[in-house]
Amino acid sequence: MQPVKVGLLGLGTVGGGTVNVLTRNAEEIARRAGRGIRITHAAAREYNASAIQGIEQIQVTDDAFAVVDNPEVEIIIELIGGYSPAKELVLRAIANGKHVVTANKALIALHGNEIFAAAQQQGVTVAFEAAVAGGIPIIKAMREGLAANRIQWLAGIINGTGNFILSEMRDKGREFGEVLAEAQALGYAEADPTFDVEGIDAAHKLTILGSIAFGIPLQFERTYTEGISNIEPEDVQYAESLGYRIKHLGIARRVASGVELRVHPTMVPERRLLANVNGVMNAVLVMGDAVGPTLYYGAGAGSEPTASAVVADLVDVVRVLTTDPENRVPHLAFQPGELSDLPILPMKQVESAYYLRLRVIDEPGVMAQIAGILGEAGISIEAIQQKEPQQRGGELSLILLTRRVIEGEVMGAIERIESLNSVTGKVVFIRVEHLDG
Ligand code: HSE
Repeated sequence: MQPVKVGLLGLGTVGGGTVNVLTRNAEEIARRAGRGIRITHAAAREYNASAIQGIEQIQVTDDAFAVVDNPEVEIIIELIGGYSPAKELVLRAIANGKHVVTANKALIALHGNEIFAAAQQQGVTVAFEAAVAGGIPIIKAMREGLAANRIQWLAGIINGTGNFILSEMRDKGREFGEVLAEAQALGYAEADPTFDVEGIDAAHKLTILGSIAFGIPLQFERTYTEGISNIEPEDVQYAESLGYRIKHLGIARRVASGVELRVHPTMVPERRLLANVNGVMNAVLVMGDAVGPTLYYGAGAGSEPTASAVVADLVDVVRVLTTDPENRVPHLAFQPGELSDLPILPMKQVESAYYLRLRVIDEPGVMAQIAGILGEAGISIEAIQQKEPQQRGGELSLILLTRRVIEGEVMGAIERIESLNSVTGKVVFIRVEHLDG
C-alpha cells in the first residue's frame, strides 16, 4: 500500500522534531500504523534546514493554504500555533475532507466546539494529544483508558515554564524575571510569555481536560485564571516551613452544583507526588471513581517530547482512515449529542482551604479580632504562625492556614480583616489543596 501523504504546517521546534521522529523511526511507525507515513509537503516562512533530517524530500512552501488545498495530502499537521490563521487553515483542511493533527491548545480551547462540529459533519478526525501536557498521553488516558470511570477531579501541573520558575525560586531563591528569561532561551515559553506566567496557557489546557473529564462543551471563558507573577519569595519560604510547596495547578472538580475549573497558585502538602514535580516537567493527577487516583508524569514541552504526541496522533489517524466516521473515538470523549450543560461555578462558590499572610501591628488583641472575624464567617483555623517583629510594637507577619471553606466567605472575611486599624496592607492568600481524594 502507498504511504499516507501528510502536509505539515510549521517547521519550528515541534515541526522539526516531528519530521525527525518520523524519519528516524519510520520503519517501526509503519509497522504500528499498518502503512508508511510520509510528510510530502510543508509550509514555513523560515526554518533551520540543517536541524531537520530528510528535509530535502519535503516540498516546502511559504503558502500554508496551498498545502491545505493540495489534493494529494490526506492529513494536515497544524503546528503554527495561535488563533489565526491556524483556525482558518484547520477549518479549510476539514472542509477539504482532510484529517487534522494539531498541538494548538489555544485553538482547541477557544474554537474546538466549532472545529469538532465541522469535523463531525465532514467525517474527519481532529486529533490534539500534543495540545495538553506535551508528550504525556493524557488525552488518550482519560478519553479511552479511563472510559469506565466517573471522573471526580483532576489536578495538574500543565505549564512547564511556570513550574520551572516556581522550582528555581524555591530551590535556589532565584528572581522571577531571571528564571523566565532562561525558560525562554530553552524554548519552553510561549511566544508571549505572559501566557505562561499569567496562567492562560494552563487554562487552555485545563479547559480541554475539563471537557474530556466531565463531558461538557469547551468553555475557556469560564475557566478561572490566576498567574504566578505575584508570588513573593517569602510566601515560598513560609509554605515550606508549614510543610507545603506552592505549585501552579489547573484543577477541575465535579461538585453537586456543577464544575470547578480553575488555574491558580496552590499550596500542596510536600509529601504529595505532585509537590515533587520540578523544573519543566508536567504531571496530571486524575481521580476516577473506579480506578482511584492515577498520575501521569513526563515532559510537557520541547521538540521531540511534543513530537511524540503528534506522531502518536498521526498513527491513530492512519489506523482509522478506513473506519466508519460515526464510530471513531469522540473528540471530547462523550458522543457529540451527549455533552451535558453542567454549570461551571464562579470562584466565590468554589471550596478550598486557604493560606493567609497578614502584616499586623504587634499590639494586644489583634489576634482576637482576626480570629473573631474568621469565626463569624464560619472559617476554622488549622494552623497559625507568628513571625517575630523587628522591634516591640512594630509590624509582624501572621500566617494562618484555614480548613476548607467556600471562597466567598474567605473573601468577605479578608475584606473585614483588611479594614482593621491593626492590619497593614493587603492580605496575601493562596489556595491550599490536600489532593487526598
Ligand atoms: N509554554 C508551554 C509550557 C509549552 O511551558 O508548558 C507547552 O505547551
